[in-house]
Amino acid sequence: MITPERLLLVCSAGVVLGAFAIDAAAQDAKEPLWAYAYSTPPKPDDKATPQAPPTRNLRPNENADEQTRPRNVDGSSAAYSLVDVRDGHNVIDWFPGEHPPMPDVIRHGPASLAERGRGCGSCHLPNGKGRPENAPPAGQPAAYTLKQLQDMRDGLRRSADPRKPNSPTMNALAAAMTDKEMHEAAEYFAAIPWTPWIRVIEADLIPKMELEEGNMYITVGKEPTEPLAGRIVETPVDEHQANVLRNPRSSWIAGRTSSRSPQSAREPIRRECWFTSNRISRTASVR
Ligand code: HEC
Repeated sequence: MITPERLLLVCSAGVVLGAFAIDAAAQDAKEPLWAYAYSTPPKPDDKATPQAPPTRNLRPNENADEQTRPRNVDGSSAAYSLVDVRDGHNVIDWFPGEHPPMPDVIRHGPASLAERGRGCGSCHLPNGKGRPENAPPAGQPAAYTLKQLQDMRDGLRRSADPRKPNSPTMNALAAAMTDKEMHEAAEYFAAIPWTPWIRVIEADLIPKMELEEGNMYITVGKEPTEPLAGRIVETPVDEHQANVLRNPRSSWIAGRTSSRSPQSAREPIRRECWFTSNRISRTASVR
């Protein structure tokens, strides 16, 4: 179901904030680059850089003790190190009581990929609510999810921006799934009700943002200095909780241009939105 919150999540995925000089309205006539985290159109031979398979190896450029010490989040009795958090093949689960038991494919990825498989929950979170750089499959009808997975497997659904690195990973996962795994994943996500977790703020200026390694924008500025310029921008409320610890209770904030004229102020805003990195477009009302 497309609720306004859900719409904002998909519309705002991977927004570009450094590109505020770009005329967003002119871009929207074609493809909103900002929704894909880019500020310039792709060149004809542009391709996504393949994502590395999941690993538990320590990162050489980070302190080893910091990567291996157990961490906690409020309200959870679990403890995970950064190595655990980053291990896409063994999805961490801060709040196992907040979703049905994860099938193997959600926790470990398609069995055919063995250790190279990424669990669906690593990107979409165990609660299926996803993150700005991917998609929120929670609460969608199982038949819809199944069709998306089949289309991605069959090459019928792909990112409209060839540079977006996580979309080919998603398609490769779909291609590696068995029919049974597709059904299990579809049923799992369908069983989780969608609940709002994005706070929408109308603004003309937002703080400076930077793109982090996973293709998501995080707030680095303290004061609102950059024009929103027609974009919808989504960022974690608490970057450490949402991104470093991947705490699924940590929520998001979305900025939207306050462009309502006085006479339309009571009407829902109509805005053309594109689902993240695919070719489907919808027009929807967002309040
Ligand atoms: C590397 C991160 C990543 C992993 C792991 C991942 N996905 Fe995705 N998923 C994405 C991205 C990115 C998209 C958006 C793809 C697009 O539209 O181009 C997506 C989209 C989807 C969608 C479409 C949602 C919609 O609203 O249309 C479904 C369903 C889905 N994924 C299911 C899964 C399942 C099942 C798995 C586990 C086998 C999985 N994903 C693992 C990144 C990931």
